[in-house]
Amino acid sequence: DTLGGLGLRADLRIGTAVDMAALAADAPYRAKAAGEFTSVTPENVMKWEVVEKERGTYDWAAADELVDFARANGQLVRGHTLLWHNQLPAWLTEGDFSAGELRAILRKHITDEAGHFKGRIWQWDVVNEAFNDDGTLRDSIWLRKLGPGYIADAFRWARQADPKAKLFINDYNIEGVNAKSTALHDLVVELRKQHVPIDGVGIQGHLSVQYNAPHDIADNMKRFDDLGLETAITEADVRVPMPSDSTKQEAQAEGYDVLLRGCLLTRRCTDFTVWGFTDKYSWVPGTFEGEGAANLFDENYAAKPAYKALTQDLLLA
Ligand code: G3I
Repeated sequence: DTLGGLGLRADLRIGTAVDMAALAADAPYRAKAAGEFTSVTPENVMKWEVVEKERGTYDWAAADELVDFARANGQLVRGHTLLWHNQLPAWLTEGDFSAGELRAILRKHITDEAGHFKGRIWQWDVVNEAFNDDGTLRDSIWLRKLGPGYIADAFRWARQADPKAKLFINDYNIEGVNAKSTALHDLVVELRKQHVPIDGVGIQGHLSVQYNAPHDIADNMKRFDDLGLETAITEADVRVPMPSDSTKQEAQAEGYDVLLRGCLLTRRCTDFTVWGFTDKYSWVPGTFEGEGAANLFDENYAAKPAYKALTQDLLLA
């Protein structure tokens, strides 16, 4: 059996972020990415700095390759991400644009990217990481130049460009009930009142065994479910202080278990995606000094206790 093939909830997909360099170079990686999962997310190749490095010159090649890979494997694609404060092209961040120019640039980017993939993206992370942990909106060129309305605009432009894609707002540290997830909830309520086309909330799920797992995740996700929204765990990984050991791996398994149970307990949770599946390729060691080994498989593709925990959850679902 494979993760994606388990469980009775046909509407729930189990996915992974995909590193395109690994996909091209590493046969065991490619086999696992194809065989274990029923959805895929590009780790980097749909980000603005990749698809439009030079203003007006688009490079869709790597992203199209992932979409083709998914189609060949019967997988759905989570698009990541149309609008973020990070990994923006230099011509944009170094440009000195008026608010009007920036709004037109953003509208063109969303229209062109969502339009390019029209009909081929299941769920888009339209707006990524718009909030600070205290629940205020994150300072970015978007907020500074366009005001908070940039969020509603992004969703409207994405819907116009691809009416079929489900449109998500995505963030981290919103797994439990806290100032950030509550602010996001309140924003979504407001957006829905304004008939903004938002369909779902992406909960990234980047955890560390050094912090308590978000045991109130189901209460949090129910708030969004009660609004009729879809939810997804979009970037699950559970990092440990290195060197890893069996005790840390058990704690890691608990973290993954809490995230997946939160999804399984939420009627409209439609996707559980891990942010990469093997320690051989992970963003974590380069970001969190002294931490790592965050994935379901180790660098030799051996399954860890976390993988077994997820399979047990899915079999019981
Ligand atoms: O592609 C260039 C390469 O040409 C260059 O030689 C190399 C060295 O400078 O950099 C390469 O780009 C790197 C890119 O990953 C592709 O590998 C960037 O430096 C590096 O910063 C980038 O890291 C990504 C990170 O987002 C950037 O913020 C990680 O792979 C990716 O896993 C991570 O993913 C984010 C989600 O998009 C949003 N949620 C948080 C998550 C973790 O930060």
